[in-house]
Amino acid sequence: MRISVSFGAAMASPFAVCRLKGRGILVKCLQKVDPFLHRNIGTDVVAARERHGCKSLYAVQAEGQEQAERSVLISCHSRTNEKKFLKYISRHGDIKKYFFYESYGLYAVVEFANRESVASLFEGAAIPSVSHESMVPFKSRLLSLRNIGLADSTNQQSGQQCQPQTPIPINELIQRLSKEESIDQQITSLTDVYQLTQENSRLRFLVCSLLKDIAAAYFPECTIKPFGSSVNGFGKLGCDLDMFLDLDGISGRNASMPKSGLSLEYQMKRASSERAVTQSILSVIGECVDQFGPGCVGVQKILNARCPLVRFAHQPSGFQCDLTANNRVAMKSTELLYLYGELDPRVRCLVFTVRCWARAHGITSSIPGAWITNFSLTVMLLFFLQRRSPPIIPTLDHLRDLAGPADKSVIEGNDCTFVSDFSKIQLQSNTETLEQLLCEFFEFYATFTFSRMSINIRKGKEQNKPEVAPLHIQNPFETSLNVSKNVNATQLDRFVALCQESSWLLQQSETNAPRGGNKEKASKPWGLATLLLPSQVAGIKSRKKRKREPASERIKSLLESLKNTNQQQKS
Ligand code: GTP
Ligand code: MG
Repeated sequence: MRISVSFGAAMASPFAVCRLKGRGILVKCLQKVDPFLHRNIGTDVVAARERHGCKSLYAVQAEGQEQAERSVLISCHSRTNEKKFLKYISRHGDIKKYFFYESYGLYAVVEFANRESVASLFEGAAIPSVSHESMVPFKSRLLSLRNIGLADSTNQQSGQQCQPQTPIPINELIQRLSKEESIDQQITSLTDVYQLTQENSRLRFLVCSLLKDIAAAYFPECTIKPFGSSVNGFGKLGCDLDMFLDLDGISGRNASMPKSGLSLEYQMKRASSERAVTQSILSVIGECVDQFGPGCVGVQKILNARCPLVRFAHQPSGFQCDLTANNRVAMKSTELLYLYGELDPRVRCLVFTVRCWARAHGITSSIPGAWITNFSLTVMLLFFLQRRSPPIIPTLDHLRDLAGPADKSVIEGNDCTFVSDFSKIQLQSNTETLEQLLCEFFEFYATFTFSRMSINIRKGKEQNKPEVAPLHIQNPFETSLNVSKNVNATQLDRFVALCQESSWLLQQSETNAPRGGNKEKASKPWGLATLLLPSQVAGIKSRKKRKREPASERIKSLLESLKNTNQQQKS
């Protein structure tokens, strides 16, 4: 889901800032613009510590939520005059940030400096009048800009300024990677292209905030937080938006009950189990989202799943949304993944690369099934990084041992405690390059004893499999569970065969050296780009047959063609 920053990005350029100079109110609007708008967005993969200044996920969430509360989402006409738009909107108060993006039309996200501005904007907004239908009179911070009787053709918000919101297609990515000069650069470039932009993250928080306004009709003190790849640092543009309806602010209030004397308590309806409560809450909120939620379409209530959820598409943002409640273990997994991604920049780069590689070969899929999930794949990569010598990241048990009293967390009997203060974590000095690590990752899983061993990031060491399953990855917090229970032998075989193929390809001098391309010209795929090309190996049934063989006829012919090209270039 790539946000196009048609105006926000323009603001980062001196040209755009000049254009607005000397226009009293607009200059005032820009005075408090956040410094991130003055940097190039998404052009550099930096250590997450630098990106967030070593903030905890909790702090990132709190900041995102607070910004979102002061923000509105406005559908605009494609010819909206940006200056007039800003001038009009800023009548309600100082604008702290704003950007435009395209998703079935042009939208603007406007963040005011103060929440009162949103109330002021509401006062001036009208209820639309339609002749043949009726409106559900639910007012939200999703609005439409009307431009009645003013055909404005000057300084248009033109289509070509808007970038696509989805990640670039795989063929384009392969082309782009082929122009890089080293495999390390290819890996950082891939991460750079795929990772969520700051604007996309903001939009995710805003959608959560809009949803919260619906849920707040019943639970005024609730919050809705993003979790999963939207905030764990591994989110790719276009990834789904996992949301958690947090009612802890309401139910966790019983601490101050007096030991004696009079006191009051709420009368509340009882249900047979916590799961039943979650189901009934999600059922009602799901109904409200369906009936009243502007822009929310295709609402499905999937209440009998292990983790009940409401799934829908939020059209104005283009996000596929999953709303869950009482899903605190998943929040903890998110926090853990975020922490690992913060510890060393190589973690995020390799997660993006392996996820992209897996997706390109159909190892993972957006359709539920017997595939390896992105979450499982990420845990596999973390495990591999724990197994390096010296380890790149510590084990979960070590993170638990470093935890302070405030970090203690037990959820439904599961110990989810681990350190939140990054400064307590001492890393060992491993200097392996991204290229070495990627190659070793494939080698590691090409030869892993899946038949007997379980992957365990708590211990950082493979353990005997406690149950029969082709792939066993211990759930980090609910330790009796296997996160890859769904994976069948065929899918595991495909994964192993592809690891063998990729490891072999990366060791071939024909494929792992730059192919003499330059930034302007199209160049032949090499290195990581070669690994993303379609493979024949996916059709292979038994991995035993393929051990240590040149992986497929396709590779042979690929190598042949590379040799031929070399010879042609020389002659
Ligand atoms: P994508 O949506 O594929 O980009 O990745 P994701 O990490 O968001 O995965 P997904 O939407 O499937 O799940 C959201 C979050 O739920 C994950 O990041 C985990 O924190 C958590 N989660 C997903 N699957 C499992 C699982 O099997 N066990 C546990 N404990 N948590 C899970
Ligand atoms: Mg997700």
